[in-house]
Amino acid sequence: VIGLGYIGLPTSLLFARAGFEVIGVDIKEDLVKSINAGHIPSDEPGLSDLLDGVRGRFRAQTTVPNADVFVVCVPTPLSGAMRVADLTYVKKAVESVAPRLREGNLIIIESTVPPGTGDKLVIPTLVKHGADPFHLRVAHCPERAIPGRVLEEMTRNARVIGGNTPSAASMARDLYGSFVTGKICTTNLVTAEFIKLMENTYRDVNIALINEFAMIADECGVNVWEAREIANLHPRVNLLKPGPGVGGHCIAIDPWFLTEGSLNGHMISVAREVNDNMPNYVVGAAKSILKGQEGANITLLGVSYKANVGDTRETPAMKIARLAENEGYSVRCCDPLVKEFEYPLQDLESATDQTDCIVLVTDHEVFKEIAPCRLRARNRNLIDTRNFLDHDLWAQSGYRVTILGGGERSEEPPDGRSAAEEISGGTKALVKVFGGR
Ligand SMILES: NC(=O)c1ccc[n+]([C@@H]2O[C@H](COP(=O)([O-])OP(=O)(O)OC[C@H]3O[C@@H](n4cnc5c(N)ncnc54)[C@H](O)[C@@H]3O)[C@@H](O)[C@H]2O)c1
Repeated sequence: VIGLGYIGLPTSLLFARAGFEVIGVDIKEDLVKSINAGHIPSDEPGLSDLLDGVRGRFRAQTTVPNADVFVVCVPTPLSGAMRVADLTYVKKAVESVAPRLREGNLIIIESTVPPGTGDKLVIPTLVKHGADPFHLRVAHCPERAIPGRVLEEMTRNARVIGGNTPSAASMARDLYGSFVTGKICTTNLVTAEFIKLMENTYRDVNIALINEFAMIADECGVNVWEAREIANLHPRVNLLKPGPGVGGHCIAIDPWFLTEGSLNGHMISVAREVNDNMPNYVVGAAKSILKGQEGANITLLGVSYKANVGDTRETPAMKIARLAENEGYSVRCCDPLVKEFEYPLQDLESATDQTDCIVLVTDHEVFKEIAPCRLRARNRNLIDTRNFLDHDLWAQSGYRVTILGGGERSEEPPDGRSAAEEISGGTKALVKVFGGR
């Protein structure tokens, strides 16, 4: 298995548990050493025990050995502003496999790639490096696992497998069938590549739709959360939840892989823009709440891109922090699940001390345990971008609560006092139009 990251390491261990002798390859020497010493570089549940359980059938190294099957799990980042897949890792990994490839071997690409990569890049690269085009077996087996539930999802989810020939596809199907209990469907290479991108694009476009509904709902004085729940009673409607933007390694990136070679990806591109602009909408809400308070303090609760994991890749929290800083605010971040972030991470107490606005970005369960009355905020403003916290509780502690898509209009207090101060006894949640219109 080439590449021992989020996907490659659990994949290697699952193959090992199924009885194969697995050699994991990574260019990072430290990572290889640490894995061989029994350390797992992530908090992914079950991974450490699995590593312990497959000693003797799994080891890591930095060079590609001879093998019967090669599984490529290297990164496929997006080349930033160009919005084009960077396939250099895939190309290098394939080049490193080429000299080892013998007749009857199978090479599988697990990395997410634009449609046509197998036929236009992988096969020609192998052939250029001496592989016999008539005996080549290439498959694409995209991964659908989600951080936090990787082992469970890798085992139970249905898989799609594309092959350059039916025999390559069926060889890959037999291999994954050793540990996958979900349905395995086989097809050709480009269709498998396309399916993976369709899945994540479907999610992105649907998130953009509900995000747009949330923003329009704010304009119309409609609570989108309530509206969504009722609309979802329709037997053929299934609206997702709005939020502060889309993050993670897949959904925020993969739609661009689908559109990069096409002149027809209009709606997909617009959906990406909508989701990418949600942090601007969140900061717009903070600006409207903090009007007149230059240099105010903003606290971000949660910086990972999704609930209950410490993964910050492509997190909207990063853009929210940067935009807020550019507006002159002082930004503090608190996320007990994240180990490293571009902004210093503080504990709850110091991150909220003298803050003027708390923005809940990530709906970690642990944030439900916060006692708002204990926080030493200077101004009690809460923006809940996930409609997640107990708003009555926060309002009882004097917080003015704003929910993304909350849509309930409230008048600005005339004398500049905080809206929370306006509530007699502070017992009623005050929900303000999110965009501050
Ligand atoms: N992480 C996810 O949740 C997820 C889900 C579905 C699909 N994917 C896709 O899986 C692929 C891998 O993603 P990831 O999250 O595991 O990446 P990652 O960055 O966590 O790990 C990739 C590993 O590959 C290594 N590597 C890079 N070039 C190499 C080479 N030439 N030889 C050997 N090792 C090399 C890196 O050092 C790194 O350790 C990507 O295409 C990604 O889009 C990821």
